[in-house]
Amino acid sequence: MRRPFARTLFRAPVLLAAAVLLPLASPAPSAADSIVIGGRSVRVADSPWMVALSSRDRFGGTRSGQFCGGVVVGRSTVMTAAHCLSPEVLGAAVRAVGDLKVIAGRDDLRTESGAEIPVRRTWVNPDYDPETNSGDVAVITLKAPLPERYVIPMAGAGDSAYAAGTDAAVYGWGDTTGAGDYQNTLRAADVQVLGDSACEAAYPGNSEGRFLARTMLCAGKPQGGRDACQGDSGGPLVAHGRLIGLVSWGSGCGRPGTPGVYARVSEAMRVMPKPV
Ligand code: ARG
Repeated sequence: MRRPFARTLFRAPVLLAAAVLLPLASPAPSAADSIVIGGRSVRVADSPWMVALSSRDRFGGTRSGQFCGGVVVGRSTVMTAAHCLSPEVLGAAVRAVGDLKVIAGRDDLRTESGAEIPVRRTWVNPDYDPETNSGDVAVITLKAPLPERYVIPMAGAGDSAYAAGTDAAVYGWGDTTGAGDYQNTLRAADVQVLGDSACEAAYPGNSEGRFLARTMLCAGKPQGGRDACQGDSGGPLVAHGRLIGLVSWGSGCGRPGTPGVYARVSEAMRVMPKPV
């Protein structure tokens, strides 16, 4: 089943509390190979375009209020997933979330390193369809610009980075097991871009969801085990040093046969406001 993000996210505090109360009873991940987001620790200094979306009011302060990922595509422009800014995830309209911030340059969410930048405005793709997750793209304009070196180039239509079999990496602070194990430090998983027909075969439009090649791409590993998961949404899928996808949805996390699905950046570029 495709898991609505909000439900999983809101369950997290309960799971975390249970883990604190019952440290010995917390279940081990089902198998080492089921660890999603692939077990690679990365440093934000090497991926400065990676940012966290934060609201301590909505999500609590222990992990800097992180609830989604984002990516810097202009000095004052961050891309994320449309569903990250939905009332379903935020529990309120985005304009009512007064402490929405973008956190740049912070590896460990328990610290105060890097910078927290307030939001000037948000744009949610008017064509975003919450039923199918098609067009899952939003843009956040920052109140203060980041240094130019934070900006990652986007891969336009026809870029070779979209070719099936291309090595790519997905970044985030999300769940590493599928059981609500949100991370304090940034991680990346190495995956491969899959061809549209493989993605369509994985998600033909049953209860698992439907893959739409115009607005989505998918990536994973044939044997599973490397994927994005809850809390990673809106974060980047990067290939050849360019942004190709934004974490959007999937059936479970890291399962063989159900790769991660991403918003296709080349399509987002057509509809989004020009990065500033
Ligand atoms: N919707 C999830 C989020 O908001 C992302 C799920 C990605 N799932 C996957 N198996 N790649 O964090």
